[in-house]
Amino acid sequence: MNIKESIESVRNKFRTDSDPLPKDSKDLELLHIKYLGRKGLVADLFNNLKDVPSEDRPILGKVLNDLKNEISKSLVGIKGSSFSEKNEEDITLPGLKFPSGRIHPLQQTMNDIKNIFMNVGFSVAYGPEIDDDFHNFSALNFPPEHPARDMQDTFFIDPETMLRTHTSNVQIHLMENEEPPLRYIVPGRVYRNEDISFKSYCLFHQVEGIYVDKNVSFADHKGILEFFVKRMFGDNTKMRFRPSFFPFTEPSAEVDIWSEQRHQWLEILGSGMVDPEVFKSVNIDPDVWHGFAFGMGIERICMLKYGIDDIRLLYQGDMRFLEQF
Ligand code: DAH
Repeated sequence: MNIKESIESVRNKFRTDSDPLPKDSKDLELLHIKYLGRKGLVADLFNNLKDVPSEDRPILGKVLNDLKNEISKSLVGIKGSSFSEKNEEDITLPGLKFPSGRIHPLQQTMNDIKNIFMNVGFSVAYGPEIDDDFHNFSALNFPPEHPARDMQDTFFIDPETMLRTHTSNVQIHLMENEEPPLRYIVPGRVYRNEDISFKSYCLFHQVEGIYVDKNVSFADHKGILEFFVKRMFGDNTKMRFRPSFFPFTEPSAEVDIWSEQRHQWLEILGSGMVDPEVFKSVNIDPDVWHGFAFGMGIERICMLKYGIDDIRLLYQGDMRFLEQF
């Protein structure tokens, strides 16, 4: 077989090999390798070209080039037509997912709390997370030997400076910086040196509230917190004020809500009338001004509202958990 016949034979062979068409891109790839690969049939023919007499070479070279272009075009054609058609047809392939972001449940709870209080005239304020003993403890009437001041409970930076253990420190900043009347809520992070478990974490969030005016009564304090509870947990929520103690309020109360599911009262916040000693520490006259304050843990509210049973879930960033909100 001379080279011309060999060229013709490869051409015919390709026609047979490409009819029927390769069934997928893998077969097409094999066909490509067989003919146009570095050691393919066309490359063989080019190798044989060096054995033909030099005067015949240009002509045969052209014939061979034509074959190469023909096969190459044909392969491109097969790829373009048959496979794209196949893809268009296959509407059962799974679609592409575009996951949308969500607001973290803690942030959602924080936003809900903020909105409820803003609707009744509270403004939002923020304060320092690193603070001194005066703002975090003494001005709030904590006695020097109070256990909260212990290294066990508080992250100290030096004996006078600490990560705040509650947002109540901002009550003091607000009253130092502004003349009453004041009506603020203060969301923010707080820190406690506690063992990490399903119910406590070294970092959590609180919302503090402070309302100071001339004729603020315990009844006002009850009214506002009742309004909050109904908005947050629903109009039919049963709640109670239970006497309690905080150094910075007198009298003090804790608010519980009734859980049908668990059949028990659950504490949701602490509150009370601002202690006259606290007013004195910021030079506000307790005979003229009265006020109430409250503080709640946002994790706790969030966990109760959504039925979350482990606080650590709120800090792990696990998509399987977060996607449920
Ligand atoms: N600071 C308290 C705590 O961290 C919560 C609290 C209780 C804040 C009573 C208040 C309040 O403003 O009146 O446990």
